[in-house]
Amino acid sequence: METQQKKTIFSGIQPSGTLTIGNYIGALRNWKLLEDEYHCIYCVVDEHALTVRQDPAKLRRRCAEVMALFMAVGLSPEKSVLFCQSHVPAHAELSWILNCYTYIGELQRMTQFKDKAAKHENNINAGLLTYPVLMAADILLYQADLVPIGADQKQHLELSRNLAIRFNNLYSDTFVVPDGYFPKVGARVMSLQEPSRKMSKSDPEDTYIAILDEPDVIARKFRRAVTDSEACVRFDPENKPGVSNLMSIYGAMTGETMEQIEAHFAGQGYGAFKSAVADACIAVLEPVQSEHKRLMADKAYLEQVMREGAERAAAIANRTLRKVHKKVGLAPYTL
Ligand code: TYM
Repeated sequence: METQQKKTIFSGIQPSGTLTIGNYIGALRNWKLLEDEYHCIYCVVDEHALTVRQDPAKLRRRCAEVMALFMAVGLSPEKSVLFCQSHVPAHAELSWILNCYTYIGELQRMTQFKDKAAKHENNINAGLLTYPVLMAADILLYQADLVPIGADQKQHLELSRNLAIRFNNLYSDTFVVPDGYFPKVGARVMSLQEPSRKMSKSDPEDTYIAILDEPDVIARKFRRAVTDSEACVRFDPENKPGVSNLMSIYGAMTGETMEQIEAHFAGQGYGAFKSAVADACIAVLEPVQSEHKRLMADKAYLEQVMREGAERAAAIANRTLRKVHKKVGLAPYTL
């Protein structure tokens, strides 16, 4: 009963690579912060991952790994609904219907489509184009009020909102129009090697810190991170993108503001600053890593969480899907 009065949160992460501190700072950490106040539904979006070629065995393993990470950062399968997208067929079904209300031009304008199409020239499949429609289906099925995401997903969320509004205008109120929820610091964590690009799990290893990286790997990657020749810890994303990115990471991990960080490291070189950033990350990630290891050893528990999560998710999703079927005029079924 209580959950029905709370606003609903939905968000998802692709199991398309090892998750990075970008995923952690931009999304996962906020998911945890929202857990008590909202009715939260969090999803491993494995169907989204199929838009680029995946090794089936690795993909299967990563789904379990990401589910374990949800819980390792502190999400509770009792409080939140934790599940895998492919276990709830309503996502693909609503996605088909919404496809019929989405213009190709809208999809071709998506930055992520353009980036991915350039990166995977030999596999510009239809799923890569219609990917944001599946994301809209994810969100709209659960009548989500808020969607905690990083800045890179803003454009996709905008499409979800437009589709909800378009559908509601055509058929009367059906979907809640969702709002984005972005972190104050770290909405866009940048690559350690090319700080003009976002940190991404599909880029080369030395450009990102994985949530599961060992402490010595974390320290080494930060030591090699690109900075500048000024040797001054100052927040200036335009002229000092590398240092500013490290400051944002440090701020996200410690709670210090940019001014506090500047004061803290005044007169110190980049070497000392980088090792402090590494230490701050290691301190936050170590407990997550050990809990993750423990959970990965308990396959039966992970499977149970996924199964129960999918049942709870399907009950909500099917309600919306039935409503949509009725509104658009699909043949009624009486089973
Ligand atoms: P994905 O899997 O690429 O990333 C998962 C979440 O992590 C955030 N994120 C970042 N935040 C800050 N800095 C970064 N460098 C960074 N990299 C990733 C993303 O913004 C995202 O919040 N399409 C989505 C997955 C998705 C989804 C949804 C999200 C599918 N359906 C419904 C919300 C609601 C994606 O590819 O995220």
